[in-house]
Parts: sequence; C-alpha cells; structure tokens
Amino acid sequence: MITNTAQETELELLFQAKIDTEQKIEPKDWMPDAYRQNLIRQMSQHAHSEVIGMQPEGNWITRAPSLRRKAVLLSKVQDEAGHGLYLYSATETLGISRAEMITALQTGTAKYASIFNYPTQTWGDMGAIGWLVDGAAICNQVSLQRTSYGPYARSMIRICKEESFHQRQGYQIMIELAHGTPAQKEMAQDSLNRFYWPSLMMFGPHDSESAHLARSMKWKIKRETNDDLRQKFINQTVSQINYLGLDHPDKALQWNEERGHYDSSELNWDEFYSVINGNGHCNRQRIQHHVKAHEEGAWVREATAAYNLKKQLKLARDAA
Ligand code: 3HC
Repeated sequence: MITNTAQETELELLFQAKIDTEQKIEPKDWMPDAYRQNLIRQMSQHAHSEVIGMQPEGNWITRAPSLRRKAVLLSKVQDEAGHGLYLYSATETLGISRAEMITALQTGTAKYASIFNYPTQTWGDMGAIGWLVDGAAICNQVSLQRTSYGPYARSMIRICKEESFHQRQGYQIMIELAHGTPAQKEMAQDSLNRFYWPSLMMFGPHDSESAHLARSMKWKIKRETNDDLRQKFINQTVSQINYLGLDHPDKALQWNEERGHYDSSELNWDEFYSVINGNGHCNRQRIQHHVKAHEEGAWVREATAAYNLKKQLKLARDAA
C-alpha cells in the first residue's frame, strides 16, 4: 500500500523536477503548501507595492510643471494601478481572495516596498522615483519574468514593458533638471541624494539575512539573489549619474577590477528594518490613506457586485 507520505514525497519530487526543467507551475497543478504560501506572500506584497506606490507620485499630479508633464505622470500612476490589478488577480489564482489581501495590508500583516514610505518633497523627486525606483523595480522584475509560477511570470512581462517607459520618463525629467538652471540642477542632486540609498534597499536585506532566499531560489520563485540584483543596479547607475553630470551620493564607491563590480558603502540597515516594521516617515499616512480610499470606494464594489449578479441571472434565465 502506498502511504500518503510516500505519495506526497513523490509529488514533491515531480514538482521539483518540473521546476528544474524550466516548466511553469500553473494554478491547478499540485504544489507544496509552502510554495503556495511563499508565492502568496511575495506576490501580494508586490501588488500592494504597486498600489501604495501610487501615493507619493499621485501627490504631485496637481503640481506638475506643465500640462504635458501632468498627463505623463497621470498615465504613469494609472499604470501602477493596473500593475496592482494584474498582480492581485494572479495572486487570487493561488486561492486567496482580494479582500483577504487588502485586510493583510491594512492591518500590517503584509508588507509593501519600503521605498514608498519616503516623502516626495520636490518635482525632482518625480524624476528620481521614475529613474531610480522604477529602475530598481525593473532590475528585479526582469528576472521575475522567468519565475516558476506561470501567472506571475506572464504578468511580469507586461509590467516590465510599462516600467521601462516609467524609467525613461523619470530619467528624462532628471536630464532636463540636471542640464537646466543652477537651482534645477541642485534640485536634481538633492533628489538623487535622498532616493539613491532607499532605492538600494528595495532589493531587500543581504543574502545572508534573507529569510526566504534559499527556498525561493530552489523553487525558482526568485531567479537572482538580493545582493546580485543590487550589485547590478549599482553598476548600471554609475554611468547614468555621470551622464547627468551629478555627484554620486556614495563617496566610497570604487571600481574593483578583480570582482568586475563597483564596491560600495554599507547601507543603513537599522533604517531599513525600522521602515519595513512600520516606522518610516510615511508608513502610517500611506495606510490611513489606503483605508480611507477603500472605504470611500465601497459603493463601487457593491454596485459592481450587484451588476454582475444581474448579468448572471439574465444568462441563467436565457439558458433555461
Ligand atoms: N521593502 C519591504 N519589505 C521588504 C523589502 C523591501 N524593500 N525587502 C525585503 N522585505 C521583507 C520581505 O518581504 C520579508 O518580510 P516577510 O517575511 O514579512 O514577507 C523580509 O523583509 C525578509 O526579506 P527576504 O529577502 O527574505 O524576502 P524576499 O525573499 O521576499 O525578497 C524582495 C524581498 C526582493 C523584495 C522580493 O519579495 C521580491 O522580489 N518581490 C517582488 C518584487 C517587488 O515586490 N517589487 C516591489 C517593488 S516596487 C514596484 O514594483 C512598484 C513600481 O511602481 C516601482
């Protein structure tokens, strides 16, 4: 007789073999519960990041310096809402409801990217966010296009295309400011100085401190480690800063011929942990704003549910 445990062991072996041969795991496939839970955690946090990330930039839509800039920023912020929606939908295929995910966000059980707890103080911050924050997000998300869970991988392909446009629009704002008047150049430098370090923190703790890394790499949920992705971003940002003619915020940055990478300063990990544990500049404000918007949107959700019910009833009657 084959026991449950023996069957589960065989299922796990077959599951891992599928991953090892680069086949995608789809919603109805068998998967270990820990794989499912880990994906729900990462994907829902990713979705929350997209949605909470609308707030720091949304704050500047009414203050954009021209109609064209306003239209571009508005469109970017709308894209982020769309990314959140794809990701919530993809996460729902794992058996969790949208309402459960929202509750986890609003009660602090689920995290969202630390970067969005920093305030946006000037128009230059719109440039720095598009360039550095979306740039760091792409650096990570390009690798996630090859993640093992099919719906997540497919959503990443579209999201990356849109994030590339966001990165370009941010860099273009920086080019104009950095090559503008002395006051504009100073604004660009100040935004770079404030957003550079938190952007590096977006990649998460060092690999040695990353709780989920080993399993996520084995299951190919993550395709590159936190430190490798951060290093890639550090390297690619150097020539971009040079082109802008701005000063690099990391005074200790140095090319290491042997490693073939830039060596850089250690990050302020106390600050990182303080922010992800809810004590950043804007954590409380971001969640309060989300709760308010969610409550004010209750009638839209009720109306949509009522409309769907009416539509289903009509379909059922027509079919009867
Ligand atoms: N911000 C907030 N929390 C973070 C974090 C960050 N920058 N980096 C790590 N953490 C949290 C983890 O979520 C985990 O907490 P948990 O156990 O409560 O979930 C803890 O710190 C330990 O970190 P690990 O390295 O073990 O966690 P992961 O293996 O999940 O790696 C990650 C962290 C690299 C961020 C990974 O989750 C990931 O790649 N996520 C998908 C990408 C993503 O979420 N991107 C959001 C960027 S913003 C964005 O895309 C919006 C766009 O508009 C710019």
